[in-house]
Amino acid sequence: MKIGFGSDHGGYDLKNAVMKHVAELGHDVFDFGSFEGERVDYPDYAKKVCEAVVARDVELGMLFCGTGIGISIAANKVNGIRCALLGDSFSARMAKEHNNANVIAMGGRVIGDNLAIDMVDQFLNAEFQGERHQKRLDKIKKMEE
Ligand code: RB5
Repeated sequence: MKIGFGSDHGGYDLKNAVMKHVAELGHDVFDFGSFEGERVDYPDYAKKVCEAVVARDVELGMLFCGTGIGISIAANKVNGIRCALLGDSFSARMAKEHNNANVIAMGGRVIGDNLAIDMVDQFLNAEFQGERHQKRLDKIKKMEE
């Protein structure tokens, strides 16, 4: 699977840790920056990754800032994006099964590497359950129009 990654300085180290794990799983990883851990603005990186998801250049996005809050808020402003801010492994599974999230976000200042990796595994191994959940996603889609 093609997966795009983006972060600001607050999520930079966690992005690199998760990206390494996802590459080791055999996925194609695309790093949209930031690249040096320098101080940057998280909306710029949410935009880059989310536009790539909408354009289908990548199938999923993974975003990281200090808390994950700002970058997930920015991501959800892009039409077609369903970004889930993750903090536990059960919600990570639900983010796929119920919400069919096409982007996930995490906070580098609040989530340790091992939890982040477990959440990513839960998310990637889950399947969208459709049916009543699709009906709800259709209602969200209508809100974008
Ligand atoms: C940057 O200092 C910080 O505000 C950002 O990484 C993020 O936590 C915002 O939600």
